[in-house]
Amino acid sequence: MNTRMRRAAFAVAAGAMAVSLAACGSAKESGGGGKSTGSAKKGDAIKVGLLLPENQTARYEKFDRPLIEKKVKELTNGKGQVVYANAKQDASTQNQQVDTMITNKVDVLIVDAVDSAAIKSSVQKAKDAGIPVVAYDRLAQGPISAYTSFDNETVGKTQGEALLKALGSKAKAGKIVMMNGSITDPNAAQFKKGAHEVLDGKVNVGKEYDTKDWKPENANSNMEAAISALGKKNIVGVYSANDGMAGGIITALKAAGISVPVTGQDAELAGVQRIVAGEQYMSVYKPYAPEADAAAEMAVDLAQGKSLDSVAKDKVDSPTTQQVPSVLVPVTALTKDNIKDTVIKDGVYTVADICTSQYKAACDKLGLK
Ligand code: BGC
Repeated sequence: MNTRMRRAAFAVAAGAMAVSLAACGSAKESGGGGKSTGSAKKGDAIKVGLLLPENQTARYEKFDRPLIEKKVKELTNGKGQVVYANAKQDASTQNQQVDTMITNKVDVLIVDAVDSAAIKSSVQKAKDAGIPVVAYDRLAQGPISAYTSFDNETVGKTQGEALLKALGSKAKAGKIVMMNGSITDPNAAQFKKGAHEVLDGKVNVGKEYDTKDWKPENANSNMEAAISALGKKNIVGVYSANDGMAGGIITALKAAGISVPVTGQDAELAGVQRIVAGEQYMSVYKPYAPEADAAAEMAVDLAQGKSLDSVAKDKVDSPTTQQVPSVLVPVTALTKDNIKDTVIKDGVYTVADICTSQYKAACDKLGLK
């Protein structure tokens, strides 16, 4: 594991550690805190550059972007501005978007990297231009100043545990298929690691894929290939790293007449509806508001030259940078039994959003009213 997470208790030691690391001439940089670096302090009229990685997964346009925009406005008395670009899953496009943001003189960048290694030189360029970078959701390499995400290994464990629970005594009666995310996304590696920690030895993995670009259509064709390789009677369950891919997987399963537990992540509306309908077993509910709020708060603090200490209680090491001030938000397994206590309670969706005419009867059965 190249990302070690340290708890807040060690935060106090971070400053001293940075000094000693520098003294040792370590190749790794230390994550910059929120201390002013000598650049002019900004008021409320700041410009925040926001770069998101793709738009096929619903969360980015539906939650992350609007939530961050709202919080930046709130924190800057309506004067802060968010400049937005989506890389549509293209790492070089994202590097160009960073260049554009630097030219446009943003005060701070929030970046959810398409490819955590390919973004490294851009993070360095931003830093050289005096623009601090907040890594959003995915741990970008390079000298980032802050990071916010969920505990992504726990996400994978949560998915694995739920799948085991759904399989019960059938866990070894056949094979499972594992559909992991994109290899360019460090989160995908962590989801996969967490899931394997729980599943290995308890199930037989018949086929396993790293899905190019996280695309539902790629998950769909991989699932079709798995079905023909393993035989439809031999598949007992599918580990899908997210809901978007679960959609593609379930289409392939249905076409072959297979009904088995499938996992997911993101609590996408379509995913929640499939859970209601009994087509998907679970999702992982990751509350986007606290993640987005933390990113906005840290970005505004960095732009204004303030300390991050009151927001960032964790420290995370990336492959290039140590002790990055971080906020890690807890996650919950979402099944048909806790839809009310999670996404509905938090106002992510209303019952009306979920229980459209197609899902009305299934909703009634679950008492979703
Ligand atoms: C995010 C997931 C998302 C996936 C595909 C991951 O980095 O954490 O929420 O489903 O990327 O975009």
